[in-house]
Amino acid sequence: MPFDLREMIDRHQGQQLSLLSEYINPQMAKVLKTIGFDAVYVRGKGAHLWDDQGNDYLDMLSGFGVFAVGRSHPKVKEAIRQYLELDSPNLVKMGTQLIAGLLAQKLVDEFAPPGLDTVFFCNSGAEAVDGALKFAHAFTQRCRFLYCDRGFHGLTLATLAVNGCKEFRADYENVLSGGTEIPFGDAVRLEAELSRGDVAAFVVEPIIGHGVFVPPDDFLPRARELCTRHGTLLIADEVQTGFGRTGKLFACDHWNVVPDIMTLSKSLSGGYCPIGAILYPRKVYDKVFCSLDRCMVHSTTFSQNDLAAVCGLATLDVIREEGLVENSARMGAHLMDRLRVLADKYELIREVRGLGLMIAIEFGQPRSLTLKTGWKMIHGINQDLFCQSILVPLIMDHHILAQVCCHGSDSIKLLPPLVFDQADADRFIEAFDQVLAAVHRFPGPIWEVGSRLAKAALR
Ligand SMILES: Cc1ncc(COP(=O)(O)O)c(C=O)c1O
Repeated sequence: MPFDLREMIDRHQGQQLSLLSEYINPQMAKVLKTIGFDAVYVRGKGAHLWDDQGNDYLDMLSGFGVFAVGRSHPKVKEAIRQYLELDSPNLVKMGTQLIAGLLAQKLVDEFAPPGLDTVFFCNSGAEAVDGALKFAHAFTQRCRFLYCDRGFHGLTLATLAVNGCKEFRADYENVLSGGTEIPFGDAVRLEAELSRGDVAAFVVEPIIGHGVFVPPDDFLPRARELCTRHGTLLIADEVQTGFGRTGKLFACDHWNVVPDIMTLSKSLSGGYCPIGAILYPRKVYDKVFCSLDRCMVHSTTFSQNDLAAVCGLATLDVIREEGLVENSARMGAHLMDRLRVLADKYELIREVRGLGLMIAIEFGQPRSLTLKTGWKMIHGINQDLFCQSILVPLIMDHHILAQVCCHGSDSIKLLPPLVFDQADADRFIEAFDQVLAAVHRFPGPIWEVGSRLAKAALR
């Protein structure tokens, strides 16, 4: 019988939630249903998704940042189509791969910071950071790693050891070793730890994704200087911030900092297939892969796979040809300006922060008595509920998809595709304005969303 994907999808359309619940992650299925994030999406294009009722959703989440070039980009699709016609000799393993070699060349010659001339390909952000930690150990022969509070580098065991988000570490602390946390932005503490002379690497997101925290301007330049002085490698985790997300090609570029190792993933393959990459200097390579019999001392089966590399080559072209880094800077500044106008208008907004199209809106306890009552009540039930009370009407009434910054947070995060345009920005701001106006009326329907969610969760 021929394989008919379209027929299969048509026959099973609508079963997404039950399949998730039965075979993959029942708890996640319950959460999605409870908060009303269980639409049946049938199509995605650019910064938009459509559900089975024909509703157009504005995607301000972009698959946690993988769809920088937008969903279903025609150039990436065409590249995949062309590739499939080739019957290419993929993953020979004891042989060589042309397409991955070309992607490595393009990354090094046209994108990487100076000196990062070697590429290790893997399949995810966590795998990239995990490998970078290994490389740093091999290079320095040291065993301690520094990381920042609230920093997120993945959820494998090694990356959990350098994860500054307590909620992910809880229950695993006994098996995590080698990591020391420092406050993000605290160069004094960084220096104190580095001066002990036992730190292999300081791993840092130039802008912290979980909460969108931008460091003080002198932090990363100072970290660069201190790492060099103490023989520690600086690993810039640009898994989320890389390729234009923050309005520069890499977030490190905001401070003219060149790390020793850079980790990449997310947007590199246009959202089509898993990919991760470690960019690092030959002197580190020479210490890790130090002899013929150690040429595979770090490897993974799907490394250098054709399809990811094809998507990578096409995606990098799109980022350059469509000026997406510049668009991210321009639209990010526009969105922040308009959000700051809303911040002046609505007392519940405490801060708008970010760079490029990586933005957080933080809410805080209001001054007026009635609103304060609502704020205290909802936080008394659960720390996550306030933001959900904003996100639920955004998706239900305005079909806008966004997320809470992180667990227990009063901030929501905007991470739209870098093809985000003026009309998208207008649509978001108008909808957000309406939701904010409603949330500033207490008691009112938006505040009831919180108690409805709490009751549903209890049930
Ligand atoms: C900065 C950063 N590093 C690493 C990771 C882990 O990537 P992955 O989920 O692909 O393992 C993430 C994921 O969100 C991230 O934001």
